[in-house]
Amino acid sequence: MKPLPPAMRGLPLVGNVLDFARDRNQFLRKGYEQLGPIYAFKLATQPVVLLVGPEYHKFFFTETDKTLDMEKPYDQLAATLGKVAFLAGKEIYQNQHPILYAPFHPKKMAQYVEVMQREVQRWIDALPDEGVIDISAEMGTLVQTVAGTALMGDEFQRRHGKEFWQYYDILGKSLSLVVPPHWPLPRNIRRERAKAAMRQMLIPIIQERRQHPEAYDDFLQDFVSTQCRDGAPADDETISALLRALMFASHETTAGQSAWTIIELLRHPDYRRLVEAEIDANLPIGQPVDGRALRALEHVYWAVREVERLHPSADTLLRAVEEEAELGGYRIPEGWFLMVAANISHRLPELFTSPNRFDPLRFAPDRAEDKQHGYTLIGFGGGKHKCAGMNFANNEMMVITALLFQQLDMVLLTKEPQLTYGKGASRPEATAVRYRRRATPLGIAPTPAEAFVQG
Ligand code: HEM
Repeated sequence: MKPLPPAMRGLPLVGNVLDFARDRNQFLRKGYEQLGPIYAFKLATQPVVLLVGPEYHKFFFTETDKTLDMEKPYDQLAATLGKVAFLAGKEIYQNQHPILYAPFHPKKMAQYVEVMQREVQRWIDALPDEGVIDISAEMGTLVQTVAGTALMGDEFQRRHGKEFWQYYDILGKSLSLVVPPHWPLPRNIRRERAKAAMRQMLIPIIQERRQHPEAYDDFLQDFVSTQCRDGAPADDETISALLRALMFASHETTAGQSAWTIIELLRHPDYRRLVEAEIDANLPIGQPVDGRALRALEHVYWAVREVERLHPSADTLLRAVEEEAELGGYRIPEGWFLMVAANISHRLPELFTSPNRFDPLRFAPDRAEDKQHGYTLIGFGGGKHKCAGMNFANNEMMVITALLFQQLDMVLLTKEPQLTYGKGASRPEATAVRYRRRATPLGIAPTPAEAFVQG
C-alpha cells in the first residue's frame, strides 16, 4: 500500500489551524519549501493535502464532481449563503445550471459594461477635486454598487442597496474556520436573522418580477425567468440564495484585485506609462467603453491578469476526496480534503520568469508564459466550475483602471501595502492614495494652444 503524504507537524485537536488562520500564505509556502509539492496538514481534525503545480491542478479540477466533491468543504459557505448551485451537491448543481448561467450569456456583456462605466463615472464625479482615499475601501464600495446594480437593477440598488449590504456584512462576519456553522452560537444566530431579513426584503421584489418579467433585464430577472433542467422554475428561497451566492462570489474578489491593479500600476511607473499612453490613444473621454475600446486596452488587460497571478483574491480552493486517490506516489484516503493555493503555484520559477516581479508583459503574445502548460493560472479556478463571472470581473477591473487613470493623477502613499483577509477573499489592507483630478484627462487631443504651453 502506498504511504500517506508527508505532513506538517501540528498541535493535538487544533492541528495547524492557528498558523493557517494567522497567515495562510506563509504557512502554505513554508510547507511547500520543507515538504515539496504534495503534503498534508490539519485544519482542526480535518486532514488536508496541498497540491502545488499544473499536473496536480489538472487532477483537482477535472476530478471535481467525479471522485472529488465541492459540497462538503464549502459547508460553511452553504450555511451562510444557502445550499444552491456550486454550494450544493452535483445533482442540484446540474439541475440549477441553466439558471445560474443564464445571466452570463456573452450577448449580455455590453449591457453590464455600460453599468460598470456609469457607476465608475458617478464615483469619480462625486470625488472632491483632490484628496486622499483608501483605495482598498473605495474599491469595496464601488464594486458593491456595480454588483448590486447589475444583479438586481438600478432601482433596487438605490432603494434597498444600503440595507441589503448591511445584512450581507453580517453574513460575511459569521464565516469562520473553526466555529461549526450549525451550532446555536451568537454569530450563527445573527447570520440566520440577517438571512431572514434579506428574504423579507427580496420576496416582494421577486414576486413583482414574476408578474412583470418584461419590465426588467438583469441577473435577478434571468433567475426568475429561467427554468431548471427538470423544467421547474426556481422557488423564492433558491433565487434569494443565488443572489447571496453571487454577491459573495463577485464582490470582495473583484474589489481586491481592482485595488491591487491600481496599486501595482502606481508602484511601476514604466509600465504605468504604457497603460496611460494606450488609454490616451484609445479611450476618448466621455465615450462609451465598448468592446472595441476594451480590446484595444491590451496593456490594461495584461496588468489585470498579472494581478490575478500575483494577488489572487480567491487564493485557496478545496475539494473532498470521495474515492481514495493515488497522487505523486502517495495515498489520499476518502474523506480527506484537497487544496490548491494560487498564491503558491502562481510563483513557481519553473512556470514564470522572475515570479515575484510585477511584469504584465509576460502575457503578451511573444511570451505568453501562461500558455506553456494548462492549469498554470488558477485565480479563477478551472474545469467545469471555473468562474462563471471571469469575463465580467476582468471587464470591470479594466473599466475601473482605465477610467481612473484617464481622469485622475494618483500617487501611492502607503508604500508596501500588505495582504488582509476579508469575508472569504483576500485584498490589500487600507492603502492611502493621493489623487488630483487631471486638468486635461487622457483621451483628449490637446488644442494647438495647449500643445504649445505643454511644449
Ligand atoms: C476577481 C474576481 C473574481 C475571482 C478572483 C473569482 C474567483 C472564482 C473562483 C476561483 C471560482 C472557482 C471556485 C472553486 O472551484 O472552488 C469561482 C467560481 C464562480 N464565480 Fe467567480 N471570481 C471572481 C468574480 C466573479 C464575478 C464578478 C461573478 C459573477 C458576477 C462570479 C461568479 C462565479 C460563479 C457563479 C462561480 C461558480 C461557477 C460554477 O460552479 O459553475 N465570480 N470564482
